[in-house]
Amino acid sequence: MRPISRRSTLLLGGLGTAATVAGGAGLWWSLASAEPPNGGTADAEGPGLRIPPELRSTAGKLQLTLEAARGQVELGGRPASALCYNGTSPGPTLRLRPGDELTIRLVNGLDEATNLHVHGLHVSPQANGDNVFLAVGPGEAFDYSYRLPPDHPPGVYWYHPHHHGTVAGQIFAGLFGAIIVEDSVTIPVSADRVLLVSDTTLDSAGSVAAVSQPERMAGREGELLLLNGQRNPLLTARPGERERWRIINACAARFLRLRLDGQRLDLIGMDSGRSPVPGRVEELLLAPGNRADLLVTATAGDTVLQALPYDRGSMPGMMRQGPLTGRGPASLAVFRVSGESAVAPAAVPPRPAPEDLRTATVAARRQLVLAMGMGMGSGQGGPSGMMGFSINGREFSGSRTDTVAPAGSVEEWTLVNTSPMDHPFHLHVWPMQLIEDNGQAVEGVIMRDVVNVRANGRATVRIAFRDFSGRSVYHCHILDHEDLGMMGVIEVS
Ligand code: C2O
Ligand code: CU
Ligand code: CU
Repeated sequence: MRPISRRSTLLLGGLGTAATVAGGAGLWWSLASAEPPNGGTADAEGPGLRIPPELRSTAGKLQLTLEAARGQVELGGRPASALCYNGTSPGPTLRLRPGDELTIRLVNGLDEATNLHVHGLHVSPQANGDNVFLAVGPGEAFDYSYRLPPDHPPGVYWYHPHHHGTVAGQIFAGLFGAIIVEDSVTIPVSADRVLLVSDTTLDSAGSVAAVSQPERMAGREGELLLLNGQRNPLLTARPGERERWRIINACAARFLRLRLDGQRLDLIGMDSGRSPVPGRVEELLLAPGNRADLLVTATAGDTVLQALPYDRGSMPGMMRQGPLTGRGPASLAVFRVSGESAVAPAAVPPRPAPEDLRTATVAARRQLVLAMGMGMGSGQGGPSGMMGFSINGREFSGSRTDTVAPAGSVEEWTLVNTSPMDHPFHLHVWPMQLIEDNGQAVEGVIMRDVVNVRANGRATVRIAFRDFSGRSVYHCHILDHEDLGMMGVIEVS
C-alpha cells in the first residue's frame, strides 16, 4: 500500500458519514489508492477555481455571439481538444433579470449541425425562441431571441446544444454554459460561485474519446469528473462567511450525489423551484440536467465536495455492471476555510411562497411510459441491434406531435418507467410540480424541470400550460437516451 497522501487524508477527513452510507467501500478506495476514481495524479488540491467569463444584462438586454468551435483548452489539467463556446468550456455565464431580452447569435464553427437550447428558461419555444427543431449547419449562423417574462423565477439555468442525435456527444465534448436569473431581493453572500459539473473521457492525444454502443445504451459516463473544466480545484473562504453555490449537473448521464461534510448547507432552490425559506440539507442528488442553488456557511478546516456513488440501475436483461452504479466517491473540489472569522452575514430575506398546483383544477390526466428494450420502436433512433428507447411505445420523430395540450390548462402526468434503469424526465418551457414520487405524496411545493423516474418506478407531476404556446419536447436527460429516441413532441395550443 502506498503511503497516505495529504489528499487521501483530506478525503478521509470529509468521509466519515459517507463511508458509512456506502458500506465502507469509499473508505476502502481511499486507503487502497492514492488516486481518485476520476484518474490522474492530483496534488493535495488542485489549482484555484477557474470562473467562466460572465456576461451581464444591462437596461433589460443582453446581446452576444456564441461561437461553437473546436478549441485547444485544458481539461482536468490536461491539454485537450474540446468543443467550446467562444473558446472556453464551460462557455460564458449569462446573468439575466426577469423581464430581460436575451439575443444570441449562434455561430456554428463545428463540422456538424448544432443548435441552442436554454434549459429551464420559461420562454417561448416558437420561431427563433427556444426552438429545438431548428438546425444550424456547419459554417452557418442563427439569431436566437428570448424574452423572459417579468415574473420569471430567479435561479440557475443553463444552455447547451439540442440537435437530435448529437446532443450527448456535443455536451460530453464541452458545449455547455450557465444562465443565472438574478433575484429581485439580493441574498447577502460573500461569494456567488457558478459550479458546472461535467464529465468526459480524453484519449492519449487529448481528444474526446469515442464511446461504444453499450456505453450509449447505458448512458456515457466520463473518466474525468470536472468542475468548471478542472479536476479538484481549490475554493477558499473565511470562517463564518456565507457563499452561494450554483451547481449545475452538465454530465451526459452521471447522477451527482453531493456531500460537503463539515459545512452547513442550506438549499435555496432546485431548478426553477424555490423554497420561501432555505432548508438545511446534508446531501443533494442532482440528476443530469438538475441544478442546485445552495448557501454554504463556512466552518474552519479543509473539506471535500464529494460525488458519492449512486445506483441508477442496470440494462434490461443484464447483470449490474460498472458504469451504472458508480465507483466510489470522487472528489469534485477542496473547500479550504481559514483565516479570521467574518462577521455574521445578514439574514436571508424570505421569499413569496410559490403557487401550489395541488389545488388546481386538472383538465387532463396522461400517462407517459418510458421504456427500453430489444425490438422496441421503429429503429429510427439507431443502428439495428441497438436497444430501443421509447415514450409510449414510440421513438422520437420531429415531424410527429405526440401530445397536444390546450393552452391555459393544468394537466397531471404520470411518468411510468418500465425499465430497470432510472430515467430523468425533462420537459422544456413549462416547469413541472412533483406531486407523487414512487407512490409517496410529496410534501410542499417542489418545482422541477428534470424529475427522476426511478428504475421500475413512477412519478406524478402537474404542469400549468398557462403561458407560451407552440411545439417543444420532453425527453430523458440521459442524453444518449434522448439521442436514441426517448423523446416526444408536445404542442400547446
Ligand atoms: Cu437540457 Cu432538452 O434539455
Ligand atoms: Cu431543456
Ligand atoms: Cu433514460
